[in-house]
Amino acid sequence: MHTSDKSTILITCGRGLADLLRTEVEGLGFSVDSSHETGVEITGDIADAMRLNLHLRTAFHVLYRLARFECRGPDHLYAQVNQIPWEEILPVDGYVCVVGRVETPTIDNTMYANLKIKDAIVDRMVQKTGRRPDSGKERNRAVVQAYWKGEQCWIYLNTSGQKISDRQYRRIPCQAPLRESLAAAIILTAGYDGSVPLVCPMCGSGTLPIEAAMIASRRAPGLLRSNYGFMHTLLFDADVWSKMRAAALKQSKKRGGKAEYKPGRIIATDIDASVVAAARRNAQTAGVDHLIEFGVCDFADTEIPDGPGIIVMNPEYGMRLGEVEELKKTYRRISDFFKQKCTGYTGYIFTGNPELSKTVALRTSRRISFFNGDIECRLLKYELYSGTRKHCKDKTCKDTPQESP
Ligand SMILES: C[S@@+](CC[C@H](N)C(=O)[O-])C[C@H]1O[C@@H](n2cnc3c(N)ncnc32)[C@H](O)[C@@H]1O
Repeated sequence: MHTSDKSTILITCGRGLADLLRTEVEGLGFSVDSSHETGVEITGDIADAMRLNLHLRTAFHVLYRLARFECRGPDHLYAQVNQIPWEEILPVDGYVCVVGRVETPTIDNTMYANLKIKDAIVDRMVQKTGRRPDSGKERNRAVVQAYWKGEQCWIYLNTSGQKISDRQYRRIPCQAPLRESLAAAIILTAGYDGSVPLVCPMCGSGTLPIEAAMIASRRAPGLLRSNYGFMHTLLFDADVWSKMRAAALKQSKKRGGKAEYKPGRIIATDIDASVVAAARRNAQTAGVDHLIEFGVCDFADTEIPDGPGIIVMNPEYGMRLGEVEELKKTYRRISDFFKQKCTGYTGYIFTGNPELSKTVALRTSRRISFFNGDIECRLLKYELYSGTRKHCKDKTCKDTPQESP
């Protein structure tokens, strides 16, 4: 087995993100073979998988297919997995984690299937090399992923290892942070490219403005990570990877470097000073703090630069009754804020509570469905053209506190 061997690559994503993922994958020059609710498939080699890991914003995992076979039971599973040339894929002194999903009447125990796969891998390694890798539950090294549905089984090398939607810049999360891939999806759906101002009141840990700044500066999200599953396999070519990273860095420097390029203003505020301090730290870790103006204030006091522009809000959506009643007032205030201060903008509210969204007294021009974990959410779009734009006298939220030590 060689680094340049082509196979099916399955790129997984959260429910509702497959169309955006497809656009991203095609934007990187790949043609998509098929698309599902939670992923897209292309044909490519390990270098392609590496490039996808480096650049994709809306994906979870990049899975390189090693085998697909008819599977009639655990012994058959063992025999088929034992045929794969693992000695050409995994280092003998390495470590492998097997994860799987089983949807077959043959067995109802995923752990047992994973154990069979692990045994088939290590037995083959011992037969061929006399040695075997360690195995366990850690996903920070080589990861083999299996999917057994009915009588079909797919075995993949999970080239990402840990989810690539975990960018690792959010060292200090706040309450209810958005997953980074979902925040990127919201920003991409809003059509943001850095050419107009972007305002994110209620920014929390800063996921929306940070993802926006990375999009505006064409910063590949994978540049933030130093560890991927593919690095722990024999198929990894460190030279190819370092050239790929250098090219991605050059592209982002051209666009996002302090001197060369500045996108439209990105303003991020929150009422909680400690949350804003954390968001600023997260932006520093992501290398985009110079592109974001942070402030502490009530959302209604956030500075709104002259439009056209985009404003995105992710208010809490409360699960308990008392909270919901209280939040209704906030949602009503958001509609007043949109009407009175954001004329000329396209407004977005991301919420998981339809009851609360009804209290926004504005006509939606689009409702886009997303899933935040298991919660079905909506991104509500408002065209805020009409009405008289009021310029707020005290529109700058100047207060930017020092971080606590
Ligand atoms: C659901 S969280 C936002 C999470 C954020 N998208 C993230 O990824 O971390 C909602 C945020 O709204 C802030 N907030 C609540 N009421 C506010 C108000 N009146 N003005 C400004 N921010 C407010 C909270 O402090 C909280 O950080």
